[in-house]
Amino acid sequence: MKLVALLSKGAFVFLADNRYNINDFIDDLIQLEVHGKTVIAYIWINRMMTNMIFLYHLSYQKFGGHDMSMKLPFVKNERQDIPTINFENVPNHVAIIMDGNGRWAEKRGLPRVAGHKEGVKAVMKVVRAAHKAKVKVLTLYAFSTENWNRPKTEIDFLMKLPKEFLHVYLPELMENNVRVETIGNIDALPIHTKKAVQYAINKTKKNDGLLLNFALNYGSRYEIMHAIKQIMEDVDGEKLSLDSLDEEIFSKYLYTNGLSDPDLLIRTSGEKRLSNFLLWQLAYSEFWFTDVLWPDMNEEIFYEAIKDYQKRKRRYGGI
Ligand code: FPP
Repeated sequence: MKLVALLSKGAFVFLADNRYNINDFIDDLIQLEVHGKTVIAYIWINRMMTNMIFLYHLSYQKFGGHDMSMKLPFVKNERQDIPTINFENVPNHVAIIMDGNGRWAEKRGLPRVAGHKEGVKAVMKVVRAAHKAKVKVLTLYAFSTENWNRPKTEIDFLMKLPKEFLHVYLPELMENNVRVETIGNIDALPIHTKKAVQYAINKTKKNDGLLLNFALNYGSRYEIMHAIKQIMEDVDGEKLSLDSLDEEIFSKYLYTNGLSDPDLLIRTSGEKRLSNFLLWQLAYSEFWFTDVLWPDMNEEIFYEAIKDYQKRKRRYGGI
């Protein structure tokens, strides 16, 4: 990294190079060395130019000027060994109920929204793991139709997360050929959320790697009821005959039209229920539960789920 400018009181701008995945360090405390002295710094990314980062320096205020030398790499976040999996028989479609953000925060005496914020980082860890494993579709339950029952402050916070996530990670998603899509009633989202999501959908629409599918304002019962209403309209308008209606045609009326059903469902935080998620589509999926709270989710745990899936024998009602 190269020092570009010195801002007010201990904040510095650096130009990031390709040696480190800088997204791994955002919003984190790191330890580095300046003129042989150990410095603790807080790192975040410039919102305008993603290859510029700010380091906010907490413990060492007196610098000799712009020409200071910096010893990297970061100490705290040294890369760990990347866990491996057998790349055969990887599930095509993994769906995840990301649960436990609130409890993660409460355990630390933090407000619930701190758990959601940390949950965003876990999203990216899992996206990277899924991309590496060559999973084709990753569907993440980010906001359910029932989540509107939460306090307004929490809803407002949750509605800002897609924009924040995309602001920071869209360049990396593009680099990794990830396509962003959504399922759910997007029209009912606040305009700023909708705009951010639609921008990402447009920007990534030609990518043909991992499909990152956010379930936003999604509820399975609503989806099924909505499909039935549309089917009835099409039957009325003679676009569809009731005799031809079968499971395959019914599936086309769901938000997941065109996607294969999830092969694997993961739910974090120890809860073992579906919470109105993909009720039709999960009919023959394998389920995997973990007590890990969503913000603690990482590549290793994701691969644990995949390894377990690879041991299962799927029979689809046969023998
Ligand atoms: C459930 O945990 C989690 C949610 C309702 C929100 C999930 C959202 C994220 C993980 C971030 C989404 C990120 C993007 C990019 C859209 P909970 O709050 O119900 O946890 P609790 O059961 O412990 O209270």
